[in-house]
Amino acid sequence: MDNRRIGVFDSGLGGLTAVKQIMKSLPNESIIYFGDTGRVPYGTRSNETILKYTRNDIRFLKTFDVKMIVIACGTASSVAMPAVKNEFDVPIVGVVDATVYAAVRATRNGRIGIIGTPGTIKSGSYERLIRKYDPSMQTFTRACPLFVPLVENGHFDTPVARLMIEEYLAEIRDVDVDTLILGCTHYPLLKKAIGEYMGEDVRLIDPGKEVAVYLKKKFDDGGLHGDKVDKDQYMYFVSDNVEGFEELGSIFLETKINGQVSKVDIEKY
Ligand code: DGL
Repeated sequence: MDNRRIGVFDSGLGGLTAVKQIMKSLPNESIIYFGDTGRVPYGTRSNETILKYTRNDIRFLKTFDVKMIVIACGTASSVAMPAVKNEFDVPIVGVVDATVYAAVRATRNGRIGIIGTPGTIKSGSYERLIRKYDPSMQTFTRACPLFVPLVENGHFDTPVARLMIEEYLAEIRDVDVDTLILGCTHYPLLKKAIGEYMGEDVRLIDPGKEVAVYLKKKFDDGGLHGDKVDKDQYMYFVSDNVEGFEELGSIFLETKINGQVSKVDIEKY
């Protein structure tokens, strides 16, 4: 048993897609979430900046004596994970491995689409790992830089969201993929609209969901489960506007988080 918290972070709202799944699959865990809303997006920044932000985020979460840190951000997992994973004395889990594991099992025709931020797509992280599992798999990638600002502004299933989805996904839809990796944790917030555009035969792989599956297995194997939750079971921190995060976070999590969100000066960490 280990009743310490799980620390989860992302550049903004996207990591809540992981939090929502962890809440469901591991209800006896206490979670601390950090959304770097003052510095979102990460995906269009240089590798040095993404690494610097990732280190700030991990140092902040570590002040809470967490038992594990989940990088619920495809960009930070792709770009910074190789550097940070052995830098800290706490286990760090990213989203790429679990997502790829699910995708290679889901595909039937060996044709996998990957969408993500420019940083993630440029890193080649998902493709590399897919090829490691099975060199015969074919991958088709597309960076979708405007999806993160859309989501951060609450455009989950609006006409403008649908227009952008068509713009970014038309080519991938035409190449007969049967599996699409939503390689950024913000994208599952667009899942309904993306699913309707791609058609029901295409399986969408959600990194938030897959990292929760992975975490549960890791906790089962390592005896890491908690059995008693803190008074404040879920705590949220952001680096900018608390109200905006409370509003959109409550809609997405389908539970009010008003009063549970605080602001932190992340540059200090
Ligand atoms: N949710 C982050 C990801 O998974 C978004 C990165 C960004 O802020 O651009 O990549």
